[in-house]
Amino acid sequence: MKNNLSNIKKAKYYLDKNECVGIPTETVYGLAANAYSNVATTKIFRLKKRPKKNPLIVHYHSLKMLKIDCEINNFFYKLYKRFCPGPITFVLKLKKNSKISKNVTNGKKTLAVRFPKNSLTIKLLKNLKYPLAAPSANISNRISPVSKEDVKDEFGKKIKYILDGGRSKIGLESTIISLIHKPEILRLGGVEIKKIKKIINYDIKYNTKKKRIASPGREKVHYSPEIPIRLNVSEAKQDEAFILIKKRKLSCKNFYYLSKNKNLKYAAKNLYKTLRMIKKKKFKSIAVEKIPNKGFGQAINDRLLKASRF
Ligand code: TXA
Ligand code: MG
Repeated sequence: MKNNLSNIKKAKYYLDKNECVGIPTETVYGLAANAYSNVATTKIFRLKKRPKKNPLIVHYHSLKMLKIDCEINNFFYKLYKRFCPGPITFVLKLKKNSKISKNVTNGKKTLAVRFPKNSLTIKLLKNLKYPLAAPSANISNRISPVSKEDVKDEFGKKIKYILDGGRSKIGLESTIISLIHKPEILRLGGVEIKKIKKIINYDIKYNTKKKRIASPGREKVHYSPEIPIRLNVSEAKQDEAFILIKKRKLSCKNFYYLSKNKNLKYAAKNLYKTLRMIKKKKFKSIAVEKIPNKGFGQAINDRLLKASRF
């Protein structure tokens, strides 16, 4: 490959050769490959050490291309018009003649799709003849990456190229909504439930107790820095990293603010970055102060709870 190619062309070069490439999105970085190719998508599972039964999200830039692969309905249209491109993923019915690789869906008849909001990735998608399957670019169950450096941390030289789009603006994965039967939230994320309710005028639920097949982030351990985490803590121990969301006077030195004034959107953006930093500093344990369980706080608590099951 010529060295003077633009970054988009470099990414396209490897993707066209059925290789995996790291791509920036507004939520987290993705490990992308041609969603129509069995060869390319197999590589995603191998690199991430991801169980084959866990399906992938496919990234599009146009409705025209989406319609080749999926059935769409009114709920989808309303949400698409309001939030896309943006941090929302839809689970839709796969068309019989769709070109999506069976690896992506694990042979199932539904597909998770998303329109990412990052100018480089949108430009890349416009230059490709296929959509991109892209789970978060981390080894399974570990912390999701929010920068090119984080992706490098996870895979080193095992991936050919990472498209550098700066730090992810939202810093937390997309909200997943299933539109297969009644609208149902499968994962909390970048779009708050109350905003979704307003657009579709439907009292949509997020039920954490219900068991679902292949539902996102339901594995016991997830998003984990592989260090014990204690939640709802008011005073940390001497040698613990202490995560806080509002400013306070402290006797210990090892504290990390997600926000200094309980700004939950800002705290969500800083969560993975902070967990990764604490892990690098080789702390043996993490304490987290109580985070209000509303809006983005709900998504933060969901991730922390899963991370704490290490
Ligand atoms: O923000 C995001 O959504 C990021 C960026 C890269 O787009 N992607 C992401 O992908 O978080 P991943 O694979 O880490 O999480 C997607 C989740 C998986 O846990 C999977 O179980 C679920 O989506 N999923 C995929 N296809 C599904 C389907 N057809 N039905 C239900 N859940 C599905
Ligand atoms: Mg993930």
